[in-house]
Amino acid sequence: MTGMAREKKTGDAAGPAGRVTIDQVRRDPEVKAFIKKADENLEQLGYTEHGTRHAHLVSSIAENILLRLGRPQREAELAAIAGYLHDMGNGISRLDHGIAAALLAQTVLRRLGMPVEEYTEVMCAIGNHEEEYGEAVSPISAALILGDKSDVHKSRVRNIEPAAFDIHDRVNFASQKSFVSVDGGAKTITLELEIDTAGSQVMEYFEIFLSRMVMCRRAAEFLGCRFSLVINKSILM
Ligand SMILES: [Fe+2]
Ligand SMILES: [Fe+2]
Repeated sequence: MTGMAREKKTGDAAGPAGRVTIDQVRRDPEVKAFIKKADENLEQLGYTEHGTRHAHLVSSIAENILLRLGRPQREAELAAIAGYLHDMGNGISRLDHGIAAALLAQTVLRRLGMPVEEYTEVMCAIGNHEEEYGEAVSPISAALILGDKSDVHKSRVRNIEPAAFDIHDRVNFASQKSFVSVDGGAKTITLELEIDTAGSQVMEYFEIFLSRMVMCRRAAEFLGCRFSLVINKSILM
């Protein structure tokens, strides 16, 4: 379990001064439908879980990273919203799903009454979350990248037949624990993983996740922090 993500309480349903809240976004029927469709599409394509579990986790981690670094509360809530909506575009196509999700998010957030200066920040973060074309270009986008790329866990594997696991299934299934810790004083963001090396070698992790870890390092640097990767208590980055 990614422990840090569970710490933040959900906010009030109605935000102060009519602000669109993360709770409103989570309850929205269109958001629920988009995320359901995205997860169904990716299941058909053989991907790991990308449903409400992933959305909620990424949302919580992104929000908590910014709060731990002393960033403004509203900025952290916008990161939570971006985190929750970031993979909706998979309901249209895996290809360029970050761009599609950003545009879908715009329709939802405008309908809920979010001002343009806020939803453009959310769109920009969502549109930059994939390693093929994304970059940390704002605190919200950096937090979203760190939240998304740190979600590697056995609960994401759908395949029930270990003999049929691909490398993504093996690495996720072998991941017993993933935990993002932020030390605001020391300015470090650490991803701690526990990998069962009987199920997957650490080298397999790097084979598929090296580009993601480089993206995390850049995102942490954008936030003025050093990124550290610890696997089975060994510091690897
Ligand atoms: Fe994605
Ligand atoms: Fe994701």
